[in-house]
Amino acid sequence: MHLENLYLANFKNYKEANIDFSKYVNALVGNNGSGKTNLLDAIHFLSMTKSAFNSMDSQSILHNQPFYSIIGKFHQLEKEIAVSNSLTVGKRKKISVDKNPINKAADLIGRFPTVLIAPSDHELISAGGETRRRFIDSIISQFNKTYLIQLIDYNHALKQRNRLLKQFSESGKIDRDILEPYDSILLSLGNNICNMRASFCKKYLSKIVKHYAFLADEKETIGLLYHSSFLQDNYKDVYLTSLQKDIILQRTNIGIHKDDYIFEMDGYPLKKFGSQGQQKSFLIALKLAQFDIIQQEKGFKPILLMDDIFDKLDDHRIQKLTEMIEHHEFGQVFITDARPERTHHFLKKLNIEWKIIAVDNGNLTPQKAS
Ligand SMILES: Nc1ncnc2c1ncn2[C@@H]1O[C@H](COP(=O)(O)OP(=O)(O)OP(=O)(O)O)[C@@H](O)[C@H]1O
Ligand SMILES: [Mg+2]
Repeated sequence: MHLENLYLANFKNYKEANIDFSKYVNALVGNNGSGKTNLLDAIHFLSMTKSAFNSMDSQSILHNQPFYSIIGKFHQLEKEIAVSNSLTVGKRKKISVDKNPINKAADLIGRFPTVLIAPSDHELISAGGETRRRFIDSIISQFNKTYLIQLIDYNHALKQRNRLLKQFSESGKIDRDILEPYDSILLSLGNNICNMRASFCKKYLSKIVKHYAFLADEKETIGLLYHSSFLQDNYKDVYLTSLQKDIILQRTNIGIHKDDYIFEMDGYPLKKFGSQGQQKSFLIALKLAQFDIIQQEKGFKPILLMDDIFDKLDDHRIQKLTEMIEHHEFGQVFITDARPERTHHFLKKLNIEWKIIAVDNGNLTPQKAS
């Protein structure tokens, strides 16, 4: 599967653009603020229905314009498939695949999977549990639709329950019968989601370990611990006895929406004890392991989006990544770089088809190709 062509209208700093890609390596080069990351984000929209960076869709409309439109032509199983994602101010976002409307995100996510390596990945180590939950959820969702649907239903029930808790707290009247159906959904879906997360983490860890050892040439022991109150045998009791606290705080305090994942190195938290280099290698290993798992589960390679990868890696790790590209471990790859000469130097050495695209203030110009 690869992206053959991308058309953008009024998307972020692109007034209008239309570009063909190589099915192997595409390098986007241009000054800071020219639109390189925006282009990767457009591909992320086609894959995941939404931005990798902005929480509101409307922030992706070119300033002072009434809409954005993204159309990608994917090549998959010998067919060309057009995916469109557009938004008009004040309306609902429209997504279609070959002109057939997609009404639920779950019907698109996973069909054109991507893996994004970006400078903001560091937040996976430094930020709170929500960032890690969202990350792991987005991986599992790309290959397990049941997981995605159950997660959406869980979050919906959680919202409703929290609304009721707020009402009980304000009125002073508690009606357990109204809560009961939501408790039952949160407990049963929560238990399923917890089991799926736990089994995913086992598989995921073995792949992270493999990539870390390759990238870092080091012998630290990597750990990925999954923390969930639903892993306890008595999770139902823990959940139910939290009701008084839930009412006081007006929200549900026990459940898989509070889960966290702890990254470890030699048995200590990576966040506190990992060196910068170890953390960098770990983050890349995390993403390459994500790539492996999606490939294994889907039976084809996801598109790899590498934003400012050269800034993040030293020569040794770049060399390792080059080896992986040359050994065809990836399929279609997009790399951004603000320094064209560095990218050219890197591509020249690659024994694989590549294309350079110059990005200048929202304009795309194909340059050299191998
Ligand atoms: N909705 C929008 N409308 C117009 N311009 C926007 C919008 N959203 C972002 N931009 C502009 O896009 C530019 C940033 O683009 P992008 O992040 O893709 O740059 P980049 O080429 O990746 O730069 P860098 O090398 O610094 O990472 C900024 O100038 C920003 O103002
Ligand atoms: Mg950028």
